[in-house]
Amino acid sequence: MRLLTLGGHVGFDSLPDQLVSKSISQGFSFNILCVGETGIGKSTLMNTLFNTIFETEESGHYETCVRLRPRTYDLQESNVHLKLTIVDAVGFGDQINKDERPIVDYIDTQFENYLQEELKIQRSLFDYHDTRIHVCLYFITPTGHSLKSLDLVTMKKLDSKVNIIPIIAKADTISKSELHKFKNKIMSELDRNGVQIYQFPTDDEAVAEINAVMNAHLPFAVVGSTDEVKVGNKLVRARQYPWGVVQVENESHCDFVKLREMLIRVNMEDLREQTHSRHYELYRRHKLEEMGFQDTAAESKPISLQETYETRRKEFLCELQKKEEEMRQMFVNKVKETELELKEKEKELHERFETLKRTHQEEKRKVEEKRRQLEEEKLAFNRRKAAVEAMQAQALQATSQQPLRRDKDKKNSKGMITKSNVEPLKYGSWWQAIQCCCNCLVKNPTGQERFL
Ligand code: GTP
Ligand code: MG
Repeated sequence: MRLLTLGGHVGFDSLPDQLVSKSISQGFSFNILCVGETGIGKSTLMNTLFNTIFETEESGHYETCVRLRPRTYDLQESNVHLKLTIVDAVGFGDQINKDERPIVDYIDTQFENYLQEELKIQRSLFDYHDTRIHVCLYFITPTGHSLKSLDLVTMKKLDSKVNIIPIIAKADTISKSELHKFKNKIMSELDRNGVQIYQFPTDDEAVAEINAVMNAHLPFAVVGSTDEVKVGNKLVRARQYPWGVVQVENESHCDFVKLREMLIRVNMEDLREQTHSRHYELYRRHKLEEMGFQDTAAESKPISLQETYETRRKEFLCELQKKEEEMRQMFVNKVKETELELKEKEKELHERFETLKRTHQEEKRKVEEKRRQLEEEKLAFNRRKAAVEAMQAQALQATSQQPLRRDKDKKNSKGMITKSNVEPLKYGSWWQAIQCCCNCLVKNPTGQERFL
């Protein structure tokens, strides 16, 4: 390429201005994620940072799980429009199940939404509301001891997905010397556990110096308040205590000004850029690799999207065929198994039927036998009945001749009626005995023999 000099003013030096005016008309979006335990001062700090009162509601300590609550506001400063989204991690640090998963999922979902928009045939990225998180303000509780394991685990999970700026909240509750030690402890713990926090960039000459100085002040110890207190003859934002006033914007009282300077006034664009070029790129790469896309094939040969698509399609069809074959085989095996089972069952049923048939025949035979016996008994009974009736007839006959033969009978009887201890039987008694006999025979055919 040759370097040429222009003969006069052409006008493309206005390109940066064109870019600026285009950006201004388009507006900006900035998304902040606030992670910290309930009541640590998240909302107060947001109000203090943007010098306004965002609508907010206090969270209780009894949330069943961590949930993300985004709220979007339209802000304007001079002629610049800012679509600001503040996302609160409600219930964080309160749960027994200290799970950072909902936060990670939320960040991933925003990346996924952007990726889906990018992959659309008809994209509208120009007016797309970008909800990707540009910065995570991680509120550390001012214990003066060390970081909680929850803080370390959460920051470790988030550091590859978002720019983390750790801040010590409610810094007015910790003494100056303790704060210094606490800051050092936090930084060494983060370092030891390999947690990557956001570093203010030092590659741009204009801001390199201030950013380098500010990097050494991390984590910022902040105080938030929207109350105005009269100090001297000036109204300043401060927290008033019985023993004195903590001024929010006084650098010897806290690092609020440093945070505002770094977050909003110097590095807002870098945070947006880092989100897109580092964190989103990482997400996109993993996602596309998961889908089977790659830039280079075997032996580092470049491969186009079309080629990758074709290869993947072929692989997919092969896999589909294999699965289909497997399914078919499985189906055949299943049918065979079922057939075998049914045969088994049929055999079993047949055997049962045969057994039942045998039992039935046996029982039928027994019933026949019983019937035969009963028939015989009936015949015997009828015979005996006839005999008794005959006896009855004889007895009747005898009764009609009784007056003549009473004395003779007494003498001719065979012992039974002539015994001295038995009363001589009268005709009435004979008749009763025979009747009794008959009754017994009728009622008790089997016992009659004994009776007779
Ligand atoms: P949730 O949204 O309910 O989780 O609470 P939060 O984290 O938004 O806390 P919020 O801003 O509502 O503040 C809770 C309490 O802490 C309020 O009483 C604030 O006045 C107080 N507070 C906020 N910032 C500070 C601070 O820097 N120092 C001190 N001492 N108190 C503060
Ligand atoms: Mg709040």
